[in-house]
Amino acid sequence: MIKDLFIKKTLAQLEIQADGDHNSLKRHLNAMNLVLLGVGCVIGAGIFVLTGSAAAMYAGPAIAISFIISAIGCMLAGLCYAEFASMIPISGSAYTYGYATMGEFIAWIIGWDLILEYLFGSATVAVGWSGYVVSMLSDFGIHLPSNLCQSPFVFDATGWHLSGSIINFPAIFIVLLMTTLLVIGIKESAKFNNIIVLIKVVVILLFIGFGISHIELQNWTPFIPENTGQWGHFGWSGILTGAGVVFFAYIGFDAVSTVSQEAINPKRDMPIGILVSLAVCTILYIAVSLTMTGIINYRELNVPAPIAVAIDNVGESLIWLRPIVKIGAIAGLSSVVLVLLMGQSRVFFTMASDGLLWKSFARTHSKYRTPHITTIVTGCFAAFFAGFFPIGLLGELVSIGTLLAFVIVCIGIIILRKSEPEAKRGFRTPWVPFVPILGAVICFAQMASLPLDTWIRLGIWMLIGFGIYFTYGIKNSHARKNRKQ
Ligand code: ALA
Repeated sequence: MIKDLFIKKTLAQLEIQADGDHNSLKRHLNAMNLVLLGVGCVIGAGIFVLTGSAAAMYAGPAIAISFIISAIGCMLAGLCYAEFASMIPISGSAYTYGYATMGEFIAWIIGWDLILEYLFGSATVAVGWSGYVVSMLSDFGIHLPSNLCQSPFVFDATGWHLSGSIINFPAIFIVLLMTTLLVIGIKESAKFNNIIVLIKVVVILLFIGFGISHIELQNWTPFIPENTGQWGHFGWSGILTGAGVVFFAYIGFDAVSTVSQEAINPKRDMPIGILVSLAVCTILYIAVSLTMTGIINYRELNVPAPIAVAIDNVGESLIWLRPIVKIGAIAGLSSVVLVLLMGQSRVFFTMASDGLLWKSFARTHSKYRTPHITTIVTGCFAAFFAGFFPIGLLGELVSIGTLLAFVIVCIGIIILRKSEPEAKRGFRTPWVPFVPILGAVICFAQMASLPLDTWIRLGIWMLIGFGIYFTYGIKNSHARKNRKQ
């Protein structure tokens, strides 16, 4: 019984599953699509919203160093993801890798945990999207009623309160719009994503290109503001705290690995999609944060739209860039919502294909060949959370969930090298076990720096997951049934 909890799927079984003709998804995505999906999912609220407050409260101009530190942890985990993704061409990302290396129960834990990253992540970013849309419309003199644009609840240090609002309608709207697109087709979704990524990258490059000549060195002096005497408030401890906060900005590169089953040549292109998108975003983030803190004093950046504020600070000469930046942010956030929703529906799809969730979740649409049921279910839940919950509360849950998946993937690579040393790999993580161990340690250290409350919520979330596994998954798991036959 206990042994069965850790029943594994062999690589051979996973290959057969990937090639299975029934229920199969369409293979449409090339390397470029995968890189753009990664960038589409990564560049969003992190850079457009969080960077300013992280600079203002924790790191000052040295927020650029925070971005580098956070990128190192992600890159180490990304190298491990790349090896797995090049070997296991099945949707499901870390969940599937866990099944192949650590067995069903751990896979379930990862799959359940990924909901925090993808489903709650998409709701969080949808709320950011709503904020930018409301602000942009009001720039044009259109004022949406505030009681339709915010969560009805607020959660702060003193507990829960009513906000006076009824619903966050724009946040629900963007989730449902992206859900519809995902049901219609992966190719259509990828096309939409490509256009959006182009817009947001051009906007970011415009900001860097035009902002650079307005950098004043005095804004970077001192580059690492002196620590105030409190851990995390400037100085090197502030840089580390800043790294924990901006980790959110990197979340999503791993979503590329949820669409392995829709990639034309997953063994070659998955590592490219994961690692190139991560590298591109890292470079852009460092450049944006340096430009932003160079053109305005970091103390003035604790605002919801820091890039727009930085532009305002330059004066008339860059005022034309302000609406363009808002459009870039709105576009950017919508593609993050799209790719996170897509990732979630693929993870559910794979778990259901394994018998761990309800059968209907593994159905694909007869015409669109997309996992329409999981997409719609995911969309409805995400819309509900985006529309009614104070998503700030869930932001840290998104980070802890993602970091846990990264830790398990790093450990998984060490196990896979022992259990399947000869298997063909399209990509090999360098310096194993050094890279995965360091990756796991860095990600775990970031988890440890999150508040106790977040750990408690993670624990409660996991208990709910165990309830579903022990009442449904364990009885319907295909791997278990096949073993008994
Ligand atoms: N990395 C994504 C963002 O910053 C989740 O919005």
